[in-house]
Amino acid sequence: MDGNGRWAKQRGLPRIEGHRRGVESVRTVLDAARELGIRYLTLYAFSVENWKRPQDEVGALMGLLEFFLKRETATLIRNKVRLRTIGRIGDLPDTVRLHLERAMEATSSFVDHTLVLALNYGARTEVIDAARAYAAAVAAGKEKLNDSSWSTFSRYLSTADLPDPDLVIRTSGETRLSNFLLMQSAYAEFVFTPVLWPDFGKADLAAAVAEYARRERRFGQTSDQLTPTG
Ligand code: FPP
Repeated sequence: MDGNGRWAKQRGLPRIEGHRRGVESVRTVLDAARELGIRYLTLYAFSVENWKRPQDEVGALMGLLEFFLKRETATLIRNKVRLRTIGRIGDLPDTVRLHLERAMEATSSFVDHTLVLALNYGARTEVIDAARAYAAAVAAGKEKLNDSSWSTFSRYLSTADLPDPDLVIRTSGETRLSNFLLMQSAYAEFVFTPVLWPDFGKADLAAAVAEYARRERRFGQTSDQLTPTG
């Protein structure tokens, strides 16, 4: 969800105004994703590296997160959307964690749509955590090192019960992954759009999905193997 700062700067506004508008885009995109039949939507809301931002910006982002949870939990329940998180949420401020836990508890039984918030998330940190847990399981005799496979190891990632992303969208013209779901997006399709996150709306999401639908996903195979009849 990149480009909030630039959106604000272009208008001579403080960066936080961009983030505030970014929360409105979150609402719009959540609705749009549901309408498009997208069952899993993951939003990269705060990375492990984002703590390095000025303290007042970090504080404002945490405040917006709390505001979003207070305002949107009822909507998530009404629309039967399950809320999940990935990332080290233990390090978030207590109030944010409390609202997150409440919202996750209240929506835990829903199965059709899942909103995953990546909070204090970083793919490298996630892999370290998973490796540590996997090593402990091997030491305890619960896993066998000789049987190691991706399907076994990936159960120790924070996305264990979530499907890999099919499509990763990055807004604001940046063309990098910035430590987002590096393992899980091994076979994802990528769409990079110049649109700044506060301007990103239903039509932009639909366009990204249409672009995705035009791609041929081969997963290492040849085109002919996928459509042997031509
Ligand atoms: C990146 O844009 C955006 C963020 C680091 C924060 C995104 C957070 C929100 C939209 C609000 C809280 C989230 C939810 C789910 C309610 P940037 O500020 O780095 O933009 P720039 O590159 O233009 O400076």
